[in-house]
Amino acid sequence: MDATDAMSKPYYVTTPIYYVNDVPHIGHSYTTIAADVLARYFRADGRDVRFLTGTDEHGIKIVKAAGERGMSPKELADEVVVGFQELWKDLNITNDDFIRTSQERHERRVQEIIARLIERDEIYLGAYEGWYDEGQEEFITESAAAETEFKSAVNGKPLVRYQEPTYYFRLSNWVDKLIEYIEANPGCIQPQARRNEVLSKLRMGVDDLSISRLKEKLGGWGIEMPNDPTHSVYVWVDALSNYRTAIGWPEIGDEHDGVGAQYWPADVHLIGKDILWFHTVYWPAMLMALDEPVARCVFAHGWWTAEGKKMSKTLGNFISRETIAEICDEYSVDVYRYFLLRAVTFGADGDFSHEALQGRYNNELANGLGNLLNRTLNMINRYFDGVLPSGGDAGPEEQAVLDAADDLRQSATGAMENCDFGLYLDKVTDLIGATNRYIEVTAPFKLAKDESQSGRLGAILYTCAEAVRIILTYLSPLMPETMAAGLEQLDWKAPSEQTISDAGQWGQLPAGLKVMKPEPLFPRKQ
Ligand code: MSP
Repeated sequence: MDATDAMSKPYYVTTPIYYVNDVPHIGHSYTTIAADVLARYFRADGRDVRFLTGTDEHGIKIVKAAGERGMSPKELADEVVVGFQELWKDLNITNDDFIRTSQERHERRVQEIIARLIERDEIYLGAYEGWYDEGQEEFITESAAAETEFKSAVNGKPLVRYQEPTYYFRLSNWVDKLIEYIEANPGCIQPQARRNEVLSKLRMGVDDLSISRLKEKLGGWGIEMPNDPTHSVYVWVDALSNYRTAIGWPEIGDEHDGVGAQYWPADVHLIGKDILWFHTVYWPAMLMALDEPVARCVFAHGWWTAEGKKMSKTLGNFISRETIAEICDEYSVDVYRYFLLRAVTFGADGDFSHEALQGRYNNELANGLGNLLNRTLNMINRYFDGVLPSGGDAGPEEQAVLDAADDLRQSATGAMENCDFGLYLDKVTDLIGATNRYIEVTAPFKLAKDESQSGRLGAILYTCAEAVRIILTYLSPLMPETMAAGLEQLDWKAPSEQTISDAGQWGQLPAGLKVMKPEPLFPRKQ
């Protein structure tokens, strides 16, 4: 692929669509921030990006939650969806679309998907008798139910016995194809441990999937099966379809038809580990049955606990939108975004604690990055009246900084393609460390005492400023506002068409820029 192809190549990233039975929390913000960082990175790299999020509004869980609050499901959804949309605005999320499964553009397309599956003889009428986890909206086999003593493996609530006629999707016919596909595409489920998990479960065999519920049991809420008005489409089949319906597929003759055809297959569906099976078995099997390409990657991240315990409203450690707002007020939205992606390897479980947040903030942001920017600008102000001196030839002392910058540039896109925020941030941190060490080693404050060293002093400060520019640029997808402020202090505005990979090339700051007096980006917290 040449450079122009790479630049125009579409990039499609999605989050799960969130249930509207309850309010948003840190877990939802985690996936959405991760998706936002990917979207911002690839946009900055010149790709044609589509970033989708939204809400999952059907299913028994929503019907019950609405009933408990004396509302209709639609009223509940209309109320809760605002909380999600506002949180995304507050967190500077740049989604290109927001899909609600109660929208007509979605409902009609889901019916078309089902109609096509029926046409292909992938669906038949049968009866379901067995267990259902209403919290997860999941059918549970007898043996799995027995293993968890007939309680939900996720929230511990009793499973519910269902006995009713249902339409089935011939999922079992697709198991071999799924195994073959997953084996042939090592990157299609990440992290690898999750891929192994799915493969071994698939090899144990899978039953056909119940894909409808009696409409009366859902109080009429849901998407009607196109072949039977007494049945509604199973909420997971409805929900998973959003990744395609939002980009105008299948065609149904409305204005959305084909709007985002170029974005499929999606590059990555970001999800939490509890919804892996739906995304790596039900969803690709549906697509295979329709003879459609499947998403390139499903990445399952871990779960957050808070202050060492599972989050719960009764324990008082639930990190709701209000708590997130308090954290963002105390630190900043950018610091919250940074912390979530920095504190935990993407894919692993993690714990949120105020102590850990403050520790990382002080060590990495205030002392590491903030201090580097302050020192650099202070010295340029003090020794060169704020005018950026010109660089010199790189000698052995510069090499470690140049190498770290080059390593960052070489690794960044691959790290983002693999959702490896840890590696990406390690490379940024390495450059910060190398530059701080460079200042210690070259000791510009000593050279400043000797007039004859002015050329060398200028070259050192240029090296620092250039490293800072690169660091701020690469941190921009994570901390857009703060990094923009930092770049302004450096008096640097990148050319509008410049991609992040080009921006990563050494030596772009022109001598003569008038840098500002530093204003701490991350004041230390006591
Ligand atoms: N509606 C379904 C998804 C349908 S996608 C086609 C759903 N919604 S959810 O609102 O219950 O969960 C959304 C996401 O939040 C899931 O990926 C889940 O893993 C994630 N999280 C819920 N609690 C979490 C934590 N404590 N930590 C991290 N993520 C967590 O499932």
